[in-house]
Amino acid sequence: MSSIFQSVSLSAVLLASSFISLSSVAHQSEIESPLSSVRSGGKTTTKTTGANAFSQPASNLPMTDRLDFSVGNSFFRNPWIAAPSTTDARDGLGPLFNTNGCQNCHIKDGRGHPPETGDPHTVSLLLRLSVPAMTAEEKRQLIIDGNIPEPNYGGQLQDFAIPGSCRKEK
Ligand code: HEC
Repeated sequence: MSSIFQSVSLSAVLLASSFISLSSVAHQSEIESPLSSVRSGGKTTTKTTGANAFSQPASNLPMTDRLDFSVGNSFFRNPWIAAPSTTDARDGLGPLFNTNGCQNCHIKDGRGHPPETGDPHTVSLLLRLSVPAMTAEEKRQLIIDGNIPEPNYGGQLQDFAIPGSCRKEK
């Protein structure tokens, strides 16, 4: 029995000492975060945290190159439209497509997600299609491309089409 009490009191002591060390760490973090020196992206690491962390230019990008970043970023964020159009820098969507903007899948320059249960919104879900590799040529193609497009639907399921395209609606 006494050994149980000893071990219980020992763990209480350990617990208490870990509280002490935790609170001293917490106190230090108010002064200087232990993570402030961690730079997981090397010199490109930004100070921004949270949902917009990936939407920042690399922090070592020279100011003279920031305009290039903004232009590229706008192509990534803004919607594309079908050609021909007066906006000829952003046309060429379709005839089949998944969504009209890169960022609709690469959400905040990060990843997409499968739909939540009951959510019909499948935009950021990308489904690759492939038929089995039968010939030696197809087996090589599978290694290089990762898939062998399905003859009717192609290599990627695209559930939208621009008006007037040849897609047959059920
Ligand atoms: C329908 C969703 C979707 C859209 C729209 C989309 N992407 Fe992607 N993108 C993906 C997926 C999924 C991958 C990963 C593909 C894989 O690993 O096979 C990817 C991969 C990439 C990669 C490679 C990333 C890496 O780490 O290798 C780049 C670059 C990229 N996309 C840029 C773009 C750009 C630019 C646009 C707009 C012109 C765009 N994407 C639009 C879904 C999308």
